[in-house]
Amino acid sequence: MDITFLLNGESVEIRDVDATTTLLDWLREDRGLTGTKEGCNEGDCGACTVMVTDQTGARALNACILFLPQLHGKALRTVEGLTAPDGTLHPVQQAMIDHHGSQCGFCTPGFVMSMATAHANGDTGHDDALAGNLCRCTGYAPIIRAAKAAQNAPIPDWLAGESSRVTPYTAPQTDSGNAHAPETADALAQLYADNPDATLVAGATDVGLWVTKGLRALPQTIFLNRCRDLQQITETDTGVRIGAGVTMDRVLPLMRRLHPSYAEMIRRYGSAQVRAAATIGGNIANGSPIGDNPPALIALNATLHLRHRNTRRDLPIGDFFVAYGKQERAPGEFVEAVTIPRQPDRLRVYKLSKRFDQDISAVCGAFSITVEDGKVSDARIAFGGLAGTPKRASRVESALTGKPWTHDTIAAARHAWEDDFQPLSDMRASAEYRLTTARNMLTRYLLEDLGDPVSVLGVTP
Ligand SMILES: Cc1cc2nc3c(=O)[nH]c(=O)nc-3n(C[C@H](O)[C@H](O)[C@H](O)COP(=O)(O)OP(=O)(O)OC[C@H]3O[C@@H](n4cnc5c(N)ncnc54)[C@H](O)[C@@H]3O)c2cc1C
Ligand code: FES
Ligand code: FES
Repeated sequence: MDITFLLNGESVEIRDVDATTTLLDWLREDRGLTGTKEGCNEGDCGACTVMVTDQTGARALNACILFLPQLHGKALRTVEGLTAPDGTLHPVQQAMIDHHGSQCGFCTPGFVMSMATAHANGDTGHDDALAGNLCRCTGYAPIIRAAKAAQNAPIPDWLAGESSRVTPYTAPQTDSGNAHAPETADALAQLYADNPDATLVAGATDVGLWVTKGLRALPQTIFLNRCRDLQQITETDTGVRIGAGVTMDRVLPLMRRLHPSYAEMIRRYGSAQVRAAATIGGNIANGSPIGDNPPALIALNATLHLRHRNTRRDLPIGDFFVAYGKQERAPGEFVEAVTIPRQPDRLRVYKLSKRFDQDISAVCGAFSITVEDGKVSDARIAFGGLAGTPKRASRVESALTGKPWTHDTIAAARHAWEDDFQPLSDMRASAEYRLTTARNMLTRYLLEDLGDPVSVLGVTP
């Protein structure tokens, strides 16, 4: 596979690229651009943050879990290209100096790349933008002060117009025998049906770790990031269809409008860098018992659209998760999209993790409860982290339905939880803690519904 992209304003062409070489390794080892640091090598610390721009705008991404083919047709800026050719600093770099935002300096290139990306997008939500960057020495206050100080500075000349200089989709990507990047869902369907053993790579926030941590070789890869059909969001009177390739940073504003509690969960999904890469399809297809989208999608009664060659089938999303590590998906079949039916917003999603930001859930509960004349007429409750798959709380739902929407009903449903779930204890939480917090989430929903919301870390839903 041959790829071309802009590296700090200069066109780069790589012939016969190794499809699973990470951008971080290539920058440091092939190009000698060692400003981009390697910390965790698994998307957690942000030391390797770079800015990647396409026609839709600039995104901060973790270079350690980004494969080179994902850059084709885009503009890449590393910390070396943040400074003007004459040495003039970017406003965020100058602000970091002025506000003492750096000590040992190891995290600093990653921080300034996240800050410069937020700056380019006019994003002043500094806490969220920087939640994926870890600093061991400085403390975050001076860094946030620096970000605020720079936020109104104009975009420097040498960075302005970056998105107009890229040519995504215009330069066709040359596939090779073992790496492909189809541009349409039809081409993808054909290719994957013919090569069912190939690995689909969407955002690579899971697959990247198979390579960097699992040291796995991926003999055949099909990259989904150039497949435009998978990136569509289509809203109709009956629902919203989200293509499997839509990244979480695009699901976030959609959910702010449709289901704000879902959006609040996504705000805590990984980090800005992870949300900019991770796709909703990847989060469903990986079948993780602690993936954050599935419980919300089950509670919203979403439909999954699967495709094998030209055969399409629809599945209630809950039926996709058969058992731990096993999904209802045939060889060569892929997730094309998911549709959420239009409905009044009754959804509440509660994500419980050890850290507020940038952490995987210990338990994630999603509730959609309809109350008519003081009684529960319909309940859809789903959880991640309580079983080997994302799973509906059917017994709890039955115990609530038809009953008054009160604390007494919740107390009476207490034992139904154990019928639904027999969670495991692991490093994230004990079984008992998981069940207790799941029950408490239902109480929290009731309190919020009765107008007595519970504030969590100052965030009142
Ligand atoms: C630092 C970090 C933080 C994270 N935080 C969270 C979090 O807060 N919440 C959470 O839920 N997850 C989290 N994750 C896990 C990961 O980001 C998600 O599971 C993500 O949504 C995976 O999507 P992707 O597009 O990156 O998938 P990829 O890594 O590209 O693929 C994942 C799997 O799905 C398959 N696949 C991808 N697309 C399709 C498709 N369309 N059809 C069929 N199969 C497909 C791939 O072959 C692979 O098996 C985190 C990961 C990292 C590294
Ligand atoms: S090295 Fe830690 S996120 Fe990439
Ligand atoms: S300045 Fe040392 S890790 Fe941030």
